[in-house]
Amino acid sequence: MKDLDRLAAPGTPERELLDRLAPESLPRHVAIIMDGNGRWARQRGLPRVEGHRAGIRAVRESVEAAARLELKALTLYAFSTENWKRPRWEVRTLMALLKEYLAKELRTMVENNVRFRPVGRLGELEPEIQESLAHAVEVTSANTGLVFQIALNYSGRAEFVDLVRAATAAARGGTVAPEDVDEEWIAAHLATAGVPDPDLLIRTSGELRVSNFLLWQIAYAELHFTPVLWPDFTTRDLLAAVADYARRERRYGGVVEPGHETGEEADQ
Ligand code: FPP
Repeated sequence: MKDLDRLAAPGTPERELLDRLAPESLPRHVAIIMDGNGRWARQRGLPRVEGHRAGIRAVRESVEAAARLELKALTLYAFSTENWKRPRWEVRTLMALLKEYLAKELRTMVENNVRFRPVGRLGELEPEIQESLAHAVEVTSANTGLVFQIALNYSGRAEFVDLVRAATAAARGGTVAPEDVDEEWIAAHLATAGVPDPDLLIRTSGELRVSNFLLWQIAYAELHFTPVLWPDFTTRDLLAAVADYARRERRYGGVVEPGHETGEEADQ
């Protein structure tokens, strides 16, 4: 782990948490359901969109912390396929905030060696947003550090529908045989292909649901729920979740006995 002084100053509680973490106990991929922006705003008598605006700080801080921890991937759930049901002005504000975020943060992403990767049904977003996303992807494409995936117009079921459509079209075209479709084939055709599955899924705001997020990919993820509302989520909260993860014993359906490897082939 490098660059930790910029993440947590020596002598702070954050640094103590970090110093207790063994590099091999860190998750490779952390996924976050950012929830509670509306409640954060309501508690302050502010319009909901102010909660989203305040949530940007937490996005920036989490990306930077994940990069400094040298995680392989961070995936944030920013806009689900169901979020179109929200009032028009709220959807417009979320998209405007995304555009503003990309314009402001692109340079920092490059400096931090972050590769940006939007996932979801991007073709259904406004052309202007698609252009901003494509630009950020292009500018960061040579970066080799953290893969920062942002889920937009995304849901796990929609991702699976798209995958089944692609598989049946490929089968009809004769480029894939039914017996070729196995777990590897599916993983290689998901929006998140190429990055390891999330080891840790965090949801803020005290809700205990996975809300259609990365359904295939979280099969073996450890779940961490925190009452903290997303705009209040800090590096310290991320480190606390990572420390919680580091204490878990992952079995992948197998058994863990001294001197024995975890049975990854088992399925429960
Ligand atoms: C959930 O809070 C949050 C969202 C639906 C959107 C998350 C968006 C941001 C943090 C800002 C934009 C993101 C980027 C990356 C620029 P909620 O509104 O459902 O909160 P509530 O449950 O308290 O109402």
